[in-house]
Amino acid sequence: MTTVDIDAKIPNNVDLAGDRRLQRALESWQPKFIQWWRDLGPVAFKENPVYLRTAIDVGREGWAHFDHVSMPDYRWGIFLAEPDADRKVAFGDHKGDHVWQEVPGEHRADLQRLIVVQGDTEPASVEQQRDLCLTAPSLYDLRNLFQVNVEEGRHLWAMVYLLHRYFGRQGRDEADEMLERHSGDPDHPRILGAFNEPTPDWLSFFLFTYFTDRDGKFQLASLRESAFDPLSRTCDFMLKEEAHHMFVGATGVARVVQRSVELMKAHDTDDIRPYGGIDIATLQKYLNFHYSVSLDLFGAETSTNAANYFAAGLKGRFQEEKRDDDHILRDLYRFVPEVTDDGIGTREVTQLAALNETLRDDYTVDCQKGLDRWNRLLADVDLELTLPHGGFHRAVGTFAGRAVSPDGRLLADDEWAASVDEWLPTDGDREHVESLMVGVDQPGQMAGWVAPPASGIHQQPVDYDYVKVT
Ligand SMILES: [Fe+2]
Ligand SMILES: [Fe+2]
Repeated sequence: MTTVDIDAKIPNNVDLAGDRRLQRALESWQPKFIQWWRDLGPVAFKENPVYLRTAIDVGREGWAHFDHVSMPDYRWGIFLAEPDADRKVAFGDHKGDHVWQEVPGEHRADLQRLIVVQGDTEPASVEQQRDLCLTAPSLYDLRNLFQVNVEEGRHLWAMVYLLHRYFGRQGRDEADEMLERHSGDPDHPRILGAFNEPTPDWLSFFLFTYFTDRDGKFQLASLRESAFDPLSRTCDFMLKEEAHHMFVGATGVARVVQRSVELMKAHDTDDIRPYGGIDIATLQKYLNFHYSVSLDLFGAETSTNAANYFAAGLKGRFQEEKRDDDHILRDLYRFVPEVTDDGIGTREVTQLAALNETLRDDYTVDCQKGLDRWNRLLADVDLELTLPHGGFHRAVGTFAGRAVSPDGRLLADDEWAASVDEWLPTDGDREHVESLMVGVDQPGQMAGWVAPPASGIHQQPVDYDYVKVT
């Protein structure tokens, strides 16, 4: 068992007190992080007490504490899941070896890169979402936004700990740069394209947490398989927090659907915009956008980097150990999409080469589950949401630069131009959604475009004062 030092300057279960040098280095990074939070975290409610969950342990039960805290005082800590002394590498060329407690020299650069790319997304999303607190549909939602934000901050801490502890001087420099790149900054942008776009409204936020945080889930789940045990244990615990972020997305969209169905029934029309609702056609366009940009985050269909990471034991597949194959993948084959001027086809490659596509497939299966639930609500009004074809609106891989309809037809550019307004949000759609965004800051009140949640947070009532506004 690891012991938790919850009262330390930096709460942790990694025995920071036993490594003074490391402790000092992280304690000197801490004020830079707090300054970053003040500068680029939420634009308002900066000191208001918020009913937040704070990680205090990593056990199955009671790992979190709930209370009102002012966000700059949030106890961002470093927590790794419990070690398993018998853990073995589950895949790749080192399969069957003991997992590594230190970084092997030959994999140092790759591991550092994987940690930096993952770490960079965490503060990026806080920056993308910083204006949303001005237009939260309820205090319940405002609290959920802040919960997601502080936990993304903790995920940054998780990656910065690994950089400081295992990557020396270079790692410390990378940790500093995490706070120097900023979402949308033309000179110092975040590493991944999707993390440089602001999240402009709450419909986008719900879809971002559903689709883009879910990309995070799949990246973390494959890093949890890593032979580098500290990374594995770090990601294991992050996944616990990540589940709530996707809950915010899944229930957020469900509440939009529920409200839209109510308005459609009450007014006997699909066109509920005049009644302050989000019509399902607009929701579908937002969904098309967020799903397709999230698919790009998985990379090209075939990837030498991904193959090398797998062979080296750095990054596995989703649920690697539950899979019934050789876990080497050099002699196993699968088909991946391939687009030529003749149309959309496939080509056969080794599974080792196709790891990005395999992770993307697993992600798509997971995404569909939410649509199934939303569609049960929509059955009442004979409507349905669908995931667009994997080639729709893609900027990475074989579909990049190709015009593909949501139902998977390769189009000529003029056909695309004639229909794109039916498939992706138009300026008019965005204006309508934006017009509905009004900040609601009284307990129990809810904006008109979204239904209240079925229940509150941590057994509190829905009308609880989740954020103290006075
Ligand atoms: Fe995260
Ligand atoms: Fe997240």
